[in-house]
Amino acid sequence: MLRIQVFLIVLLGCFFTAESSGAADWSETPAQKAERLQWWTEARFGMFIHWGLYAQAARHEWVKNREQMSNEDYQIYFDLFNPDLYNPKEWARAAKNAGMKYFVVTSKHHEGFCLWDSKYTDYKATNTPYGKDLLKPMVEAFRAEGLKVGFYYSLIDWHHPEFTIDRVHPMRNNEQERNRNADRDMSKYAEYVYNQVEELLTTMGQIDLMWLDYSYPGPDGKGRDDWQSEKLIKMVRQKMPNVIVNDRLDLLDTTYGWDFRTPEQFMPKEWVTMNGERVPWETCQTFSGSWGYHRDEESWKTPRQLVAMLIEVVSKGGNLLLNVGPTARGTFDDRAMARLTAMGEWMNYHDRAIYGCTQAPEEFQAPQNCFLTFNPELNRLYIHVMEWPFRALHLPGYAGTVKYAQLLNDASEIKFVDRVGHWLNEEKKEDTITLQLPVKQPDVVVPVIELFLK
Ligand code: GLC
Repeated sequence: MLRIQVFLIVLLGCFFTAESSGAADWSETPAQKAERLQWWTEARFGMFIHWGLYAQAARHEWVKNREQMSNEDYQIYFDLFNPDLYNPKEWARAAKNAGMKYFVVTSKHHEGFCLWDSKYTDYKATNTPYGKDLLKPMVEAFRAEGLKVGFYYSLIDWHHPEFTIDRVHPMRNNEQERNRNADRDMSKYAEYVYNQVEELLTTMGQIDLMWLDYSYPGPDGKGRDDWQSEKLIKMVRQKMPNVIVNDRLDLLDTTYGWDFRTPEQFMPKEWVTMNGERVPWETCQTFSGSWGYHRDEESWKTPRQLVAMLIEVVSKGGNLLLNVGPTARGTFDDRAMARLTAMGEWMNYHDRAIYGCTQAPEEFQAPQNCFLTFNPELNRLYIHVMEWPFRALHLPGYAGTVKYAQLLNDASEIKFVDRVGHWLNEEKKEDTITLQLPVKQPDVVVPVIELFLK
C-alpha cells in the first residue's frame, strides 16, 4: 500500500514538474534579455495601429461592447467593409517620416475580426467586399521602410461562438446569451487562440514583437487558465525565440511570461518598477481618446504635447507606442497626418536625443522646466527645454562635467560659465554651470541642448 502511495506521489510529482515547468525551460540571464530587447530599447518610438470593422462605426473600437450589440447588430460592418483607398506603403512612409522605428497592428481586436487570411475562421478581411488580405501587405510595406514588425492580438473575442459571456462582453446583460454559456467551451476557444497566434508567427516571416491583450481575472472575468497562457507563451517562445512580448497574459509572476510593462493612457511618475527593480516599459497612447478611428472625438493632443510626451517617456527610460486609428476608407485622417508630420519635423533635428537614450544618471538633476535624456554610448546629455528661459539656464551640480555645449537643431555653440568653487565669495561653494542662451528661442517645438560630457 505504502509503495503504491509513494509511486503515486512520485508520478504526480513528475506530472506537476512537467506541467509547471511550462515555459520554464526558457531561461535567460538579464544580459541576454537586454540583448534580445536591444533594438526595441534603442528604438524608443513606435506606431500602434488599431484598425478593424469598428472604423466604420467611427465611435470607438469598443462600440460593440458599449452599445451592447449582438453579432447580428454588428454584421452590417462586416458586410460593407471595403477600405478602397488602403495603401499600406503610405502608412509605412508616414510612420517612418515621424521617426517611428517599429509598428504594432491589431491583427484581431476584441470584436474578433481578422485582418489576415486566417485558415481558422471565416470572420476575416478576405470575406468582406474588400476581398483581400490586409495584414500581409502592411507587414511588407513597413518592413520595406525598415520598421520592425509587431502584432497586437486580442485574447478577448466578442464574436467567437465558444467564448463565454463574461462581465466585459457586449452580451453581459443578455440573460438568454448568458444561459448559453453552458454550451460554450473555452478550451476550444483557447485552441483557436493558440492556432491563430502560431499562424501569425509562422506565415509572415520574422515577427519582432507580440502584443497580447488582455486579462481581467477574478469573478466573471478571464485570465491565464482561460487563455491557457502557459502553453501559449511556450509556443510563442519556441516559434520565435527573439520575439518581444508584452505583459497582459496574466503571467506577471513568471520570468518568461512577459518582457515589458505596458502602462496605458497615462504618464508614469517615474521609471516603471517590479519588486523594486526597474523594468523595460512602453506606454501606449492615443492622439485623441480613442484607439479606433473616432470621427467626433475632440480631445486631440497638440503636436507639442506629443513631442513632450515622447521626451518625458524617454527621460524615464521607457518607449512610446503612439496610436493611429485609420478610417474605414483605409486612410490616416488629416488630424493624424498633421501630428505625425509635426513629430517628424521635430525628430528630424532631434532624434539623437531620443534613439539609444535613456534616463540620465542620478548625479544630473533636470534644471527647471526641463527634461533630461542621456545617451550612454555617446556620453552626451540632452536638455529638453520646455519653457525657454531668459538668457541663463542654470545647471546646479554640473560644474566640471561638461566639455562642450550646443543647440541640437543647428549645432550652434552655447557658451557657458563653469563655476567650481569661486562665486561671489569663496565660502559659498558654487558648483553650477550657467548656459548662456540666445534671447530668442530657436524655432522648434521643443529646443534641445546637447552637452558633451567629460
Ligand atoms: C485596452 C483596450 C483596447 C486597446 C488597448 C491598447 O486594453 O481594451 O481597446 O486596444 O487597451 O492598449
